[in-house]
Amino acid sequence: MLPRSQLGKTGLRVTRLGYGSMGLRGPRTWGVRVVDETHAERMLHAVLDAGINFIDTAPDYGIAEERIGRYLSHRRSEFFLATKCGCTPVQHDDHLEIVHTWSPEVIAANVEQSLRRMRTEYIDVLQFHGGTLAELQSSGSYEAARRLQDRGLVRWIGISSKLPEILDHLRPDLYDTLQLPYSVLDPSHADAMACGAALGMGIIVRGGIAHGGPEAEIQREHLNRVWERLQLDELRPPDMSRAQFILRYTLSQPACHTAIVGTCNLQHLQENVRAAEAGPLPQELVDEIQRRWTALRDAC
Ligand SMILES: NC(=O)c1ccc[n+]([C@@H]2O[C@H](COP(=O)([O-])OP(=O)(O)OC[C@H]3O[C@@H](n4cnc5c(N)ncnc54)[C@H](OP(=O)(O)O)[C@@H]3O)[C@@H](O)[C@H]2O)c1
Repeated sequence: MLPRSQLGKTGLRVTRLGYGSMGLRGPRTWGVRVVDETHAERMLHAVLDAGINFIDTAPDYGIAEERIGRYLSHRRSEFFLATKCGCTPVQHDDHLEIVHTWSPEVIAANVEQSLRRMRTEYIDVLQFHGGTLAELQSSGSYEAARRLQDRGLVRWIGISSKLPEILDHLRPDLYDTLQLPYSVLDPSHADAMACGAALGMGIIVRGGIAHGGPEAEIQREHLNRVWERLQLDELRPPDMSRAQFILRYTLSQPACHTAIVGTCNLQHLQENVRAAEAGPLPQELVDEIQRRWTALRDAC
């Protein structure tokens, strides 16, 4: 069984390895890869078959919500579903433009559409897809989400954010969960993560596998440079892939309740499941990585 933790004050017992469905967004969106229907179906079933019980999605992710509905609605009791709101994506001929709009009408329309697309009667966690605290409050978006919660359409309310605006969102009186990016290659949200967890918010980590690290199909030079500067290959046990090393470091942070790793590769999924089962890295390894980060910061 995959290790679980409590998603803050929601009380939901989520698997520490969650699934991010952005890669299932389909054609005419963005990026170079398009996952076809057969593979999307196989992928989503494999996620649940592996025991993962937390799926993150958004109205912004092309046809990802529709696919979740089409392939997993008959297994709805097996997973918690988190989606987002404030989304008014614009479909162009060849790509999807992501636009966020804050108004009660958009929040309500997003939820109605998400419920329809995902063929479900409720959303476990509705997250504002960005926005500043002032925007969400002055536009009435926050109250709109509360009204949907009162109607039983939404169980918990969260925010997906990043620095610097995330600092204003460290408000457990307003939000049950906080989604943020974090990994050993980009730990800039470590303080926000620890603070949010200490305040009782459920912490949902994105980017927790740093897009696959140096072995990723889509290379990210800035992350690779951090890997090199920290000389992490020196610390990585030979039987652990770089991606597993990165993921297990993320899972070594008690404040990370679930890491919504995205993958459209069945082998990567199995690799990630094995990493989650193995759990946090040994403490001496975590300490050494943190020592190296401190030295790197001091040198800058
Ligand atoms: N603002 C927001 O709210 C926001 C923004 C971005 C993302 N998100 C959410 O967070 C989720 C994850 O974010 P993300 O996709 O940016 O970051 P991520 O999970 O760190 O990276 C996903 C990438 O890592 C690769 N990968 C996964 N496991 C791997 C493995 N074992 N070995 C090698 N490569 C591996 C995947 O490629 P393969 O398919 O080849 O495995 C994919 O390209 C998204 O799906 C979405 O749900 C939210």
